[in-house]
This record gives sequence, C-alpha cells and structure tokens, in this order.
Amino acid sequence: MQHIAYLMASLGVSQLVRISVNGTPTERVVEARTTLADFLREELDLTGTHVACGHGVCGACTVLLDGASVRSCLMLAVQSDGHEVTTVEGLAGDDGELHVAQRAFAEEHGLQCGFCTPGFLITTAEIVGEGVELSRAEIRERISGNLCRCTGYQNIVTAVETAIALQRDGAAGGAPRA
Ligand code: FES
Ligand code: FES
Repeated sequence: MQHIAYLMASLGVSQLVRISVNGTPTERVVEARTTLADFLREELDLTGTHVACGHGVCGACTVLLDGASVRSCLMLAVQSDGHEVTTVEGLAGDDGELHVAQRAFAEEHGLQCGFCTPGFLITTAEIVGEGVELSRAEIRERISGNLCRCTGYQNIVTAVETAIALQRDGAAGGAPRA
C-alpha cells in the first residue's frame, strides 16, 4: 500500500482523503505528494503542528495517528486516509480544559521559545495514555525523538513526570479528542 502511495505521489496524482482530525470528519482532495504535516497546516490551518527539519529528525511535527505518535513530515496525507489524527489543537477538551500534558508543561515551565512544544505535548499525551509509570531515565528515552534547542530538557522531563502523576491521580483532561 505504501509503495502505491509513493508511486501516485511521483506521478502528481490527486486523491480524496477522508480522515477524522481532532474528532471532526474531514474530506479533501489533495495532491498525492502532500505530506500530512503540510495537509494539516495548509489545508486545515492547524498550524500548531510545526515543521523544522522536514525529514524525521526533530519531532516538531509529531501527531497522533489512531493514538500512536507519528512524524507527520514523513507521512503522506493520503496514507492517513481512513484514520484518526490528533494534533496539539485537539488535546484540550471541548470546554477548553487543558490536557494533563498541557497543564504539566505550564506548571513545570517545560518550554522556552515553544517551537518544539507541540511535538513534546503530543508525545507526552501518548505516554500518559498508556497509563505507565516511568523513571526519569525512561522518560528521557521515550522523548528522545523530540529535540529542544532551548531548555536543556530538565524541566521537560519533570513536566512529563508531572503529567504522568496528574493522569494517575485522576486529573481531568487526559483523553485527547480523536
Ligand atoms: S519536522 Fe518532522 S521530524 Fe522534524
Ligand atoms: S523550547 Fe525552544 S526549541 Fe524547545
């Protein structure tokens, strides 16, 4: 299936994509070569998904696909057809209540410029959704696919610890819209 998507992309073919984005069913005809990141940002105006390296290194473009984190700069939009995508805009509840990951990053000052933050929040949402307890070393391993040029990571690791604790203690705001 993946090779067919890449063949169509190379031929400049357009295709109908039907996906659920942050709980909203969405249909668009897109060029097959359009990445999921560009689709989200340019077609749907969901610019919270950031693009930095554009080739799978930095994690700024991380979104959830059916609950699992993926790098949206490495996926074609057509490959997400039929799936559920959650972006950083979909983490807070409909009533505006912040997701535990967002609360934790705010409380622990887990950001400086904020460019990397959407990717870290999505990765953290995936972690807390698993309901696991992780050591700081294990947290570092889990977030190793997300790069931050500002913070030195200490507060980010603490924020992930706090998000896990908030989730464990039953704070509201732990389930992203999908
Ligand atoms: S922009 Fe996708 S991993 Fe860097
Ligand atoms: S807060 Fe600036 S890159 Fe992470």
